[in-house]
Amino acid sequence: MNFRDTLKVNGKGHLEIGGADTVELAEKFGTPLYVLDEQYIRDMCSVYRDTIRQDYDGNGIVLYASKALSCLAMYKIAESENIGVDVVSGGELFTALRAGFPAEKIYMHGNNKLPQELEFALDHNVGTIVVDAYSEIDLLDGLCAQKNKVQNILIRINPGVEAHTHRFIQTAKTDSKFGFSVADGAAMKITEYALSKKNLKLEGYHCHIGSQIFEMQSFVLAVDKMLAFMAAVKENLHFEASVLNLGGGYGIWYTDEDPQLKTEDYAGYLKTVIAELKQKSQEYGLKRPYLVIEPGRSIVGEAGITLYTVGTVKDIPGIKKYVAVDGGMFDNPRYALYQAKYTAILANRANEKATETVSVAGKCCESGDIVCANVSLPQAHSGDILAVLSTGAYNYSMASNYNRNLIPPIVLVKDGKGEYIVKPQTYEDLVRNDVIPERLK
Ligand code: LLP
Repeated sequence: MNFRDTLKVNGKGHLEIGGADTVELAEKFGTPLYVLDEQYIRDMCSVYRDTIRQDYDGNGIVLYASKALSCLAMYKIAESENIGVDVVSGGELFTALRAGFPAEKIYMHGNNKLPQELEFALDHNVGTIVVDAYSEIDLLDGLCAQKNKVQNILIRINPGVEAHTHRFIQTAKTDSKFGFSVADGAAMKITEYALSKKNLKLEGYHCHIGSQIFEMQSFVLAVDKMLAFMAAVKENLHFEASVLNLGGGYGIWYTDEDPQLKTEDYAGYLKTVIAELKQKSQEYGLKRPYLVIEPGRSIVGEAGITLYTVGTVKDIPGIKKYVAVDGGMFDNPRYALYQAKYTAILANRANEKATETVSVAGKCCESGDIVCANVSLPQAHSGDILAVLSTGAYNYSMASNYNRNLIPPIVLVKDGKGEYIVKPQTYEDLVRNDVIPERLK
């Protein structure tokens, strides 16, 4: 078992995260519980931010892709780390603004932004909107005209780079609901269209080639394709883009099938991208673009774990052992959606050797409700605390109230102490918006 820096086993044989004893956290806050190590998040923000400062003369910005985990405190952390954020819905935008996040450092994404979301963004002076449709360009230009504004935009481009990752989370293939393809000329055409709009200021381009990617070559290739496209635009349309947003996508460790990267490896990835960007800009005679990157998973993923209490244990001889916990697909749907793999540990007996392979099942009425399959554990008993690692990204943000289970709270750990950044839901929350029409009373 490899432990990352944030995780240790203490003298009591308990798993610690960020210096806090997870068994004590489970006692104090209950389970299921999401726990995040603040320092880890800050270290990841700063490594990206500082690499742009040092290797690219500060000519760029890191955006935290808040779809990975959006709540007020996360925007506060991003703000205090002096980075920007990307949002993909009115709800994420609202959360960022409610946290007081500076609007000029917000980039708004979405392949089908609603008119009211665009209006909301304009009314709050969101810095940049990444457009992804002709109709959106028309709508946005019209709204800007009414409001007497000029809005900075980027166009989402599909550079046709296939990153080796789970097929459901690849987003830059030719058959994609995202972006305009370079290969078939669509990207060039929409550029011309956007440039014709008086109330939109086209600053450059965005692409995002997928998620949970480790192959550096994919990112380098994306830079090459984007710069070649920018050079072609300059030649054909006499427009030189000043901003290049390369999206997110850098991978994290979930199990020992994944590399275990350190902060300097993430800096290394960005340095490689920057070196390619400098070289290609020079080759094509382009001004070095302002660089935007949008890491989500790599900022919060490994900063988080989920704590559960073991309930029933069911051994089906010759087939499988199910260890059921008090959570499930309602707090982590990633196995159900992607057959995602995780590492689990018995947090209260973290020094004990694994002796068996089990599936950790949730409590939902659905046989596919597995938190993680085939994990190695010591023999688990009812009452044990089970920690699932690397759950900081795309767990809370994809949680639901399926089966009317409560979405777990989030505790943020700093200097060995934990406090809520998201409070527990209550049963009252479940019926808050329910209405019984008069005729059913
Ligand atoms: N920028 C854009 C435009 C994106 O679409 C995404 C992720 C990111 C940035 C952040 O990518 P990251 O650094 O987190 O890989 N629910 C899936 C992941 C979906 C990612 C969607 N886009 C999962 O649980 O694996």
